[in-house]
Amino acid sequence: MSVHINAKKGDFAKVLLMPGDPVRATWIAHTFLKDYKEVCDVRGMLGYTGFTKNGKRISVMASGMGQPSIGIYSYELYSQYNVETIIRVGTCGAFQKFVNTKDIIIAQTASTDFNWMTDFTLDGTYSAGADFEVLKAAVEEAKKCKSVKTHVGNIFSEGRFYHFSGNSKEPWWKGWEKIGTLGCEMESYALYCNAAVLRKRALGMFTVSDHFQKPGILSSDERAKGLKNMIEIAIRVAEKFA
Ligand code: HPA
Repeated sequence: MSVHINAKKGDFAKVLLMPGDPVRATWIAHTFLKDYKEVCDVRGMLGYTGFTKNGKRISVMASGMGQPSIGIYSYELYSQYNVETIIRVGTCGAFQKFVNTKDIIIAQTASTDFNWMTDFTLDGTYSAGADFEVLKAAVEEAKKCKSVKTHVGNIFSEGRFYHFSGNSKEPWWKGWEKIGTLGCEMESYALYCNAAVLRKRALGMFTVSDHFQKPGILSSDERAKGLKNMIEIAIRVAEKFA
């Protein structure tokens, strides 16, 4: 057991898919894995290990919301359970007009307004990036999926969901849009930093669930269907690192 995970050593596979929501972790195990077993349940943060239809052993575990939460679980999985690769599979909001809801965004890099890296005395700003091999595999697999459009680039891992813009003339996200950042979520920066510090692999990919410049938000049905495309891609990637 680690501080926040009640699994035994060896219970997790080398590669792990990480949605934010524990219900989604159960759905992924149930829908995509054979012979899976629940390996942890502390605070309802459910984790499972099983086999893909091609017989590759993979795990899935929820991260909860935000960088503090994914920071705890990914650190313990990497450092105490020998997990080598974590693929975050989540949703995000989109900033750019050329992106639509239901598209997939793959985070080559992550930016943040959160103070994750202040622990490290660096004489500069750390650029958090995905593992190149996992990123390459994900882009290749996503391009094969003709029914969904994929974008690759920078994501903003915001430290808070609700922003109070004060006297600013522009909405808070405008600067990120201008600099080309594709959208926002709340976890990948911390995940990439943990992977960097522990010399492991990480990637974040997201179904666009809402848009800052276009109306409409995905219904729970559309969300599930969009996620299904992305999880199929993520599983094919995970198999390469199993
Ligand atoms: N912000 C943060 N996280 C998100 C969003 C968002 O707009 N959409 C989905 N996850």
